[in-house]
Amino acid sequence: MMINILGIESSCDDTAAAVVQDGFLLSSLIAGQQVHKDYGGVVPELASRAHQQNIVPVVDQAIKKAGISAKNISAVAFTRGPGLLGSLMVGTSFAKGFALAMDIPLIGVNHLQAHIMVHFIRKKEQPGSFPRFPFICLLVSGGHTQLVMVKDHLKMNILGHTIDDAAGEAFDKCGKILGFPYPGGGHIDRIARQGNQQAFAFTKPKTEGLDFSFSGLKTAFLYLVRDEMKKDPSFIQRNLADLAASLQKTIVDMLVERLTRAAEQTRIQRIALAGGVSANSGLREAAKKAARQKNWELFMPETDFATDNAAMIAITGYHKHLKKQFSGHDISPQARLPYE
Ligand code: KG4
Ligand code: ZN
Repeated sequence: MMINILGIESSCDDTAAAVVQDGFLLSSLIAGQQVHKDYGGVVPELASRAHQQNIVPVVDQAIKKAGISAKNISAVAFTRGPGLLGSLMVGTSFAKGFALAMDIPLIGVNHLQAHIMVHFIRKKEQPGSFPRFPFICLLVSGGHTQLVMVKDHLKMNILGHTIDDAAGEAFDKCGKILGFPYPGGGHIDRIARQGNQQAFAFTKPKTEGLDFSFSGLKTAFLYLVRDEMKKDPSFIQRNLADLAASLQKTIVDMLVERLTRAAEQTRIQRIALAGGVSANSGLREAAKKAARQKNWELFMPETDFATDNAAMIAITGYHKHLKKQFSGHDISPQARLPYE
């Protein structure tokens, strides 16, 4: 009997559904939300409402595109947290209803573990190879920045994390200062390619061990721009690419420095990246360079699977299904959720 897992992701501003069959991805769909564009960030109430509008058609299309019928689904996996409570609630309620109606098991999934599990998504047309355990994953998203020791599909522990802002937050807050729409990370990446990364220097914080800190960088960036704008109101306009490139280089250096330290401390040379910021071309280049120098076996997700998606929820659900790790119907979404 084939195991078909329906995955549902609704932790932030994307409503996504995917189907995985025996570990192979059959479909993965995302409905983004345009409603937040004018607000410079995600507005939780608007996000939940948009999830409610999107979830039925997105799930319906994911099942159709997978070429199966709803009655062939073996279990439904959904993001339990961390994330916005109202948004998580929509996915959780839908998943419970679906599981009840089809009389199939329900599987709650940790969004952060799922980001790391993208490395186990297999596609029929390109099977690829998986990282062997243990490996180290630099998980960089909009809300989290962590170095994670991955011992098994579902066994992970945090080696270091940010003590304030996440790397994605630093990109987005500085992007806002530069006038980019939310989220600014991808825009900075694009513009940075034409800029000089040495144009502006930012001091890096001194954090202990394997921890990160990004809030000082955001403040330094804000002060630089504010002071220069007083002298020359066209400062941003004239220096946009250089500002983006210098900022990106600083963030990337901070990330790769700690990643290198983690590899050295643990003597593990299998290194993975995950989370939205792992789509960043500067980070990917720097990780490749470090991998060549340090002899790492490097795993980077396709950019579509770096940012939020449901394929990662479905593949995590598949591995939980193999271990019969099902959830009861009394399971509730959690805005904060530790690793299992
Ligand atoms: O993992 P993700 O999609 O959602 C969360 O779980 O937070 O990450 C979103 C974050 C945002 O901060 C976004 O600006 C950032 O990932 N991001 C990027 C790039 N693409 C997405 N940051 C830098 N460069 C990119 N190309
Ligand atoms: Zn995410």
